[in-house]
Amino acid sequence: MSEATPAKSMDEIMALCKRRGFVYQASEIYGGINGFWDYGPLGAQLKKNLRDAWWQDMIMNPCWGRKGPNGERVRCVPLETRIIQHPKVWEASGHVGGFNDPMVDCRETKARYRFDHVSVFVPASGDAGERPLFAFMKDSPSEAKQQKKAERAFGAVKVVPLTSIPVEQFAKVLGPDAEKVGTLTEPRQFNLMFKTYIGATATEDDKAYLRPETAQGIFVQFKNVVDTTRVKVPFGIGNTGTSFRNEVTPRNFTFRSREFEQAELEFFCHPSESQDWYKFWRDFRMEWWQSIGLKGENLILREHEKDELSHYSQGTSDVEYRFPFTAPGFGELEGIAHRGCFDLTQHQEHSKVKLEYFDQERGEKLPNGSTKGERYMPHCIEPAAGLDRGALAIMCEAYTKDPSRPSPEIMKFHPRIAPIKAAVFPLVNKDGMPEVAERLYDELNAKFGRTGFIETDAKQSIGKRYARMDEAGCPFCFTIDGETLTNQTVTVRDRDTGGQERIAINAVSEYVKKKLGV
Ligand code: GAP
Repeated sequence: MSEATPAKSMDEIMALCKRRGFVYQASEIYGGINGFWDYGPLGAQLKKNLRDAWWQDMIMNPCWGRKGPNGERVRCVPLETRIIQHPKVWEASGHVGGFNDPMVDCRETKARYRFDHVSVFVPASGDAGERPLFAFMKDSPSEAKQQKKAERAFGAVKVVPLTSIPVEQFAKVLGPDAEKVGTLTEPRQFNLMFKTYIGATATEDDKAYLRPETAQGIFVQFKNVVDTTRVKVPFGIGNTGTSFRNEVTPRNFTFRSREFEQAELEFFCHPSESQDWYKFWRDFRMEWWQSIGLKGENLILREHEKDELSHYSQGTSDVEYRFPFTAPGFGELEGIAHRGCFDLTQHQEHSKVKLEYFDQERGEKLPNGSTKGERYMPHCIEPAAGLDRGALAIMCEAYTKDPSRPSPEIMKFHPRIAPIKAAVFPLVNKDGMPEVAERLYDELNAKFGRTGFIETDAKQSIGKRYARMDEAGCPFCFTIDGETLTNQTVTVRDRDTGGQERIAINAVSEYVKKKLGV
């Protein structure tokens, strides 16, 4: 991290989020529920603004009207699919099957262990200090080997389950078959899906799952969209909504939750063009996150190494943000994956419904000038974003401490995402100023209320009112003062600099419009 970027405190960010009504613990009055978070009034609007920006720039006017690698405008349509799908969807997608228990992997030996089957030798009393903790599998050669090492290190030892060691301390654990310390991954659940039952009888036959991603709804409706609309490959289908994963270790505020919102696009294209589309989407998605305020060294685009890719993927990149809790490392905001034709092929096999696409404009040229057409399984590029992680990154990026200001905590949101767009204040609550403020408030609310809150407030000193707006991240405050009554001008105060200028009261709407880019 450069010296220009002082470390931000997650505790302070979380405290502000609670105090100003961005994020609350879910079911807080009952003690909370691990892995679930609610959004307060400002947070709900912030997230809506993020979702709307995604919807606008990915579906309504994809890629800001840019042309794709095929030289044509990018085309996308929306879809809204249900949280509960036919259970066979998750068999086809690979989410059911595989491992059903949390596992830990060893990065060094590539061995995978059942999390609850790993034990650890620790000192019989006291702390291990700088010495490693020795993990082993019961009744395996690792047990005797690790016991010897542990006794050499600690003298008397005792055995505890790995499940009792906080994941933050895994860096100190020597894996059962490893040479180096700290090679065990945190536990991962391979079947993360929440189960439920449909109907009253609740037998095993009625079992269903809450979706772990919105993407599969798109593949399952691909044929309907092609058959009922005028879309032609290449085109994208976008889907946003709540997904659920029964994460083993939900943590880091909303970063890893058990219920979260995704915004996913599946972009279908001809296999021969898929690499170009992959690069196009990867680069656009990075630019998009930058456009809403995640600029600078805290945002990176990381291309996965070949050995990180799933067997069907021909490329994956992550847009990653340096959260205060990952620093100096980064955490994933969005994955952009080249998924080949894996998903459509899986669903075709499992459903027995043909999902191939007939492309009228490809294939051999016929003597009459038309083309014979080509039948193929489209390849798919998937930009898959998390809206809660996005909102968290935006809140972390916006959080600024400036002790020289009367309000030392400022949320420097990009105006497009800010939940409060503008505030209108009468300097004092008399002399005709409240009436003028009321009229300006009505005007701004009618014009911009659909994009966020417009605030007005006549109580407390103007300094306190500005400070409240700084903490809430309101980019502009317009103040009606004595001069307004004589020359029809107001002051506009910029949140980020605290500086003020005067503009005509009838120019305020245009000013806000320009700044919001609406
Ligand atoms: N369809 C592909 C897919 O779901 P993913 O990388 O598992 O890919 C996409 O999820 C995005 O969803 C992630 O980049 C992240 O932003 C968000 N996400 C995934 N799991 C999450 C969790 N437990 N809590 C919050 N966000 C999560």
